[in-house]
Amino acid sequence: MATTSTAEPYVPDTDRLPDLARAAAECRGCELYQDATQTVFGRGPAGAVMMLVGEQPGDVEDQRGEPFVGPAGKLLHRALAEAGVEPDRTYLTNAVKHFAFTMRGSRRLHQTPKRGHIVACRPWLAAELGSVRPKVLVALGATASQALFGPSFRLSQHRGEVLRLPAEDQSPTTDVLDPLVVATIHPSAVLRAGDNRQAMYDGLVEDLQRAAALLS
Ligand code: URA
Ligand code: SF4
Repeated sequence: MATTSTAEPYVPDTDRLPDLARAAAECRGCELYQDATQTVFGRGPAGAVMMLVGEQPGDVEDQRGEPFVGPAGKLLHRALAEAGVEPDRTYLTNAVKHFAFTMRGSRRLHQTPKRGHIVACRPWLAAELGSVRPKVLVALGATASQALFGPSFRLSQHRGEVLRLPAEDQSPTTDVLDPLVVATIHPSAVLRAGDNRQAMYDGLVEDLQRAAALLS
């Protein structure tokens, strides 16, 4: 893979979400587009007040072309409802817009995206942020957190805190962009949990409630 992988040349100079989504469908900014079915761009209304960032599309998302429509997405929607967040106030997206996987027999096994993929795909996330301009931003899991705060960010140390984006990211457009950010676990971590699944789910809901409280 070329070390210069970046989505940058594919990102149009617009803050219109439909135009960004259309352009993202043609992205070849890193090699992940080669094996995945399609780009899974973010979804939600332009006026969404809360933006949630996951890791990357899963198997179901890759086939449907929409974020968070598989098992982890169902759990996330349930947790958001429990936290009192209406779906039409949210914009859902991922740090990486193509599904990364390895084949195990005929099954496609999710692969954690590499730093290079996160960095390559970051211009799309920046464009979405600049377009939606959410009041509150929620990072779901370590990958999303590191996409926003850099590779040295430790989710375990900052989970549930109210954070600000690094100063250099606060102006991707001409206006200052300064959402309140909450980092929490990824919904798929709840699905993978064994005996303490309920406690992990409750913790996710609690963090989402904290994020929701920042909206008012
Ligand atoms: N996990 C994610 O991080 N994003 C999705 O869209 C689905 C599962
Ligand atoms: Fe482009 Fe991101 Fe897909 Fe890579 S993962 S091809 S940078 S949209």
